[in-house]
This record gives sequence, structure tokens and C-alpha cells, in this order.
Amino acid sequence: MIKKITTLYFSATGTTEKIVTGIAEKIAKNHGGEITISNFDFTLPEARKKTISFDKDSLVIAGVPVYAGRVPNVLLKFLNTISGNDATAVAVVLYGNRHYDDALIEFKDILESNGFNVIAGGAFIGEHSFSETLGADRPDEQDMAVTADFADKIYDKMKTPGKNPAVVVSGNKPYMEYYRPKDQNGNFVSILKVTPRTNSDCIDCKLCSEVCPMGSIDLDDVSKITGICIKCCACVKKCPVGAKYFDDENYLWHKHELEVAFTGTRRKPECFI
Ligand SMILES: Cc1cc2nc3c(=O)[nH]c(=O)nc-3n(C[C@H](O)[C@H](O)[C@H](O)COP(=O)(O)O)c2cc1C
Ligand code: SF4
Ligand code: SF4
Repeated sequence: MIKKITTLYFSATGTTEKIVTGIAEKIAKNHGGEITISNFDFTLPEARKKTISFDKDSLVIAGVPVYAGRVPNVLLKFLNTISGNDATAVAVVLYGNRHYDDALIEFKDILESNGFNVIAGGAFIGEHSFSETLGADRPDEQDMAVTADFADKIYDKMKTPGKNPAVVVSGNKPYMEYYRPKDQNGNFVSILKVTPRTNSDCIDCKLCSEVCPMGSIDLDDVSKITGICIKCCACVKKCPVGAKYFDDENYLWHKHELEVAFTGTRRKPECFI
């Protein structure tokens, strides 16, 4: 049986963190509380400079958001530096009520290729980074109930004697190409170079600069973007006065299309064990 639990996640707007933490806490509770949980949050650039490794006594609840139907490509380099050393892992992906496509199978494969024994996987829904209506306020109570049930099943699987079999999750190989937005005429467009703007309500509190996972918001002038922007919307959603926003036409059209197509249906979490 495992002796320690670690949550390992990237979570720009907090939804991945909520599910991963929920799973870890419920498993620890089932253990009778005699197990410790440590957290490794690799959302900020400084954390991704560290080297991290586990051992066979560890259970790692690992989570990433789904970006363009896949594991965010900016995280691949860091993810491939982690050593599992035969630790047990649960792969979790969070998506914004469109679809998780091949992100879960890709994440499971990454963990396995780095020495983890992945015994369970789950695709959960969180409020879409771009929107306040798509997947609004999720994960909610219903999602957390599914999370707790999933944690119970993981705990039961770990109690069975011998090495736990690897999980099979949904997804295709080869993985799909990264999902691409379209403009108003239905032509594929790239929003890779799009960056947020800052309006005059800004009180210069610097929070946006502190929470940017790419370290791309200039601390001295928060209206300046100095590096790449992954459109994670941490700066937009965490700004206390709503001063950060996107005004790019293609970005706004893509957001609109997603809201029109996917707000009406509540997608359900899928758990594989
Ligand atoms: C660049 C980008 C691409 C995204 N692509 C998808 C997608 O393909 N499918 C989807 O349902 N949600 C997509 N989302 C939404 C996120 O997966 C979702 O909001 C997730 O809950 C964010 O996790 P976090 O709160 O831990 O940052 C995307 C978000 C961003 C920023
Ligand atoms: S978080 Fe908002 S108010 Fe604070 S510095 Fe950034 S834009 Fe300005
Ligand atoms: S500047 Fe871009 S990458 Fe940085 S927090 Fe804002 S949306 Fe995310």
C-alpha cells in the first residue's frame, strides 16, 4: 500500500487543482487520515525549473487542463523531466465542456513513459478559460460527488493485492492534430500571437504579473506582454477590477462559437479505472 500522496498539477484558473485535490483528500480520508498529502503545483515558471521524482511508495494524482484537445504543448518539456520510478499515478484532465479529445490518453502515455504505473484516469469539466458561461462555475457539487466516488474506486483498486493493472482510457492514436479555431468565414485562423489588453481601471496591484504561468506580464508595466501568451486567462479571471481583456476579433469569434455550440449541453465527467 502507498505511504504518501502527491498532487501534481498545472492549473491557471484553478479547476484542475480543485479536482486533483478532491481526489487526493478523499483517498487520504479513506486511509483513516494516517497519510500525508503534499502538493507540487507547476503552474508558475519557477516551479517548472525544479527537478522532481517519486518512488514506488507514492501515489501521484496528476492533472493538466485540455488545450486544443491535447495536453498543453508548453508543458511537455517539463512533464518529460519528471521521474516516476514505479510510483502509482492517476491521470486527470480538465476541459471546458467542449471535449477532451486525445488529451487524457496523451497524458497517460506521458506519465507511463516517465516511469509511472497509471492505474486510473479521469476527464472532468471546468469553467472554460475563455468564458464565464461555458461550463460556468464547474466543477460544482455534482462534479465533486463524482470525484469522491472516483477516489473511492481508486482506493479499492489499490487495496487489491499485487501490482495494479494499467488503466485503459478513451482517445485515439495517433493523437488528433491540435484543435484549431475558425474565423467568421469558416477559415482556420491562428490566435497564437494574441495577447490581452489592459484598460484604465487597472490599479497596478501586479497580481496579473504574479499569476501568469508564462511569466509574460511585465512587472513594471503590466500592460506590456514580454513573452508568449497561452490564453490561459489567469490574468483576466484573477484581476480584481476586471481590467484585463481580449479584443482580438478572431479570439472573440472563437469564444462566441464555443459558447453557442457547447453551453447548452452539460457534459459529464468520465472516469476510467
Ligand atoms: C488555449 C486553450 C485551449 C483550450 N482548449 C480546450 C479544448 O480543446 N476543449 C475544451 O473543452 N476546453 C478547452 N479549454 C478550456 C480548459 O480546458 C478549461 O477551462 C480548464 O478547466 C482550465 O483548467 P484550469 O482552470 O486548471 O486552468 C482551453 C483553454 C485554453 C486556455
Ligand atoms: S491584476 Fe488587474 S488591476 Fe492588478 S495590475 Fe493586473 S491588470 Fe492591473
Ligand atoms: S498573459 Fe496570457 S499566459 Fe499570461 S496569464 Fe494572461 S492569458 Fe495567461
